[in-house]
Amino acid sequence: MCGIVGYAGGQQAAPILLDGLSKLEYRGYDSAGLCVYTAHGLQIEKSKGRLQVLKDKVADGHSIKGCVGIGHTRWATHGAPSDVNSHPHLSDSGKIALVHNGIIENEAVLRQQLQEKGIHFRSETDTEVVVNLVGYYYDQGNSFVEAVRKAIARLEGSYALGIMCQDYPETVIAVKKDSPLIFGFGQGENFIASDVPAILKYTQTVAYMDDGEMAVFDGSHVEFYNAEGRKIQKAHEKISWELSAAERGGYEHFMLKEIMEQPKAIHDTIRPRIRDGEVCLDGVELTGEYLRGIRKIYLVACGSAYYVSCHAKYIIEKSCRIPTEAVMASEFRYSDPVVDENNLVIFISQSGETADTLAALREAKRLGARTIAIVNVVGSAIAKLADEVIYTWAGPEISVATTKAFSTQLSVVYLLTLYMARQMGTMTEDAYHALVEDLQKLPQNVERVLRRENLEKCKALANRYYSRHDAFFVGRNIDSAVCLEGSLKLKEVAYLHSEAYPAGELKHGPISLIEEGTLVVAVNTVTNLFDKTMANVKEVKARGADVICIVQEGMEDQAMVIADSCIAVPKVLPMLQPSLSLIPLQVFAYYVALCRGCDVDKPRNLAKSVTVE
Ligand code: F6R
Repeated sequence: MCGIVGYAGGQQAAPILLDGLSKLEYRGYDSAGLCVYTAHGLQIEKSKGRLQVLKDKVADGHSIKGCVGIGHTRWATHGAPSDVNSHPHLSDSGKIALVHNGIIENEAVLRQQLQEKGIHFRSETDTEVVVNLVGYYYDQGNSFVEAVRKAIARLEGSYALGIMCQDYPETVIAVKKDSPLIFGFGQGENFIASDVPAILKYTQTVAYMDDGEMAVFDGSHVEFYNAEGRKIQKAHEKISWELSAAERGGYEHFMLKEIMEQPKAIHDTIRPRIRDGEVCLDGVELTGEYLRGIRKIYLVACGSAYYVSCHAKYIIEKSCRIPTEAVMASEFRYSDPVVDENNLVIFISQSGETADTLAALREAKRLGARTIAIVNVVGSAIAKLADEVIYTWAGPEISVATTKAFSTQLSVVYLLTLYMARQMGTMTEDAYHALVEDLQKLPQNVERVLRRENLEKCKALANRYYSRHDAFFVGRNIDSAVCLEGSLKLKEVAYLHSEAYPAGELKHGPISLIEEGTLVVAVNTVTNLFDKTMANVKEVKARGADVICIVQEGMEDQAMVIADSCIAVPKVLPMLQPSLSLIPLQVFAYYVALCRGCDVDKPRNLAKSVTVE
């Protein structure tokens, strides 16, 4: 996730900006840059790679003389990591410099309109659209503040912006919508930052900026405005966190922080791809004719990403009626797969660097298949190699166990499925529009599942069951795919032996392992299979298991006739239900790990990106 820092005061700005950016490194980034107002005007320095590359370039900031500036660490979304795509960006006129965190959803339309007015673009970023828009209004005779105000009125999407102007050497303007931004009050100096750690060394007094608000400041003065342009006062808040807690936004672990970030990650992934009620996948072109000719779709991935593929099998087959198979990448690459140009092979990877997935992608391409990658890291090896890419916009994931990346991968599967079903005509108009509508509400529904009372409930269940030796996750149909991921979370972060089975399989073997005190988590949200799964719950109860049921709201009483405890999630259309059922399982695993004293963010023996076979 991009990081922003801004400074105005009496000290040399560049070293302070670089120090602030170093405190935002934990957020993940691929390039860094800064802009300082010097005796020669706006001076921009930026480079791809580690912050150290930029530091070396500017002698840790000491070679840039000036007391007002903005800095940025970039996590690529639009355009691969490169010097030219790095921030700050300069308007075509050279008068405005700007850093941005967020995603501009209508950038294509705005870019075209600006180009038609003769404005030139140098990068592939959505950010350059913003700086040129501010530049355009400024060149029309508006004041700096007015130009910013007019520009942001045209933006759709999310943004936190730090902006400077050639003709206002002492001023920085900051504005935000749906991306974080804080203001820091110093003594004879003021700051902005994406997150507290960047400025904690300099001030502990901050104001959290709300959506639509603007701060116009120099070293000695700040004015805040609300979305309507009226001057407002902001409350001064004291930060009492230690630096390490501040990096985690006050959460004890990145895993919990990332669980809580899921509504936004899902929103960022879905929202820009639904326009006027239609799913639009820029850069992916699958015609109905092509899709009807496909013999089989393969989804290939590792670990949790493979479990997303298991969901996709149910979803794609039901909606598109194309035979679909999920295959672990480590198996696919050596299995002499029956793949040729009549197959579509979809690769899913958070890092985009997983060795087995990359090797499987090479194999699929060698066999002549068409390939699509669903990836979180722009410019990663898998993203570069696949024929087409759909990015998840989860932002960097720091905890080794995936949560928000998983949720956004699932969101892309929904989008891709709807897109394909639409192209093929395998879904009725009504069903399509109902799903698109429910999909847009998914972030709010995830937020509901993450309400405090649900978190407390998961915590209480973790306290009750954390010392069990074995856990079984059971469910039918798509619920069985949810179980795979719920079980993996418990294994990897809590080191608790856990298995996942389709509920109907229990009798064919695993039930012999159920005894007094075995923990069984039954995911039971598929309406027409509810009674069947409850019958399985009855069987494990009769053998002494303790059962937690995950059900849709309204089904709690029926579940509690047999189960020991129950967590209800909002009822949504069946295809989207896994996104909600999964959340309590992530939270439960997190709290079990805490109870068992595990190193939640860095589980033993695991690495975030598995780049070796
Ligand atoms: C589990 C987890 C792993 C990854 C797997 C694939 O929590 O994070 O199972 O899902 O290693 O990694 P990517 O998605 O980077 O290819």
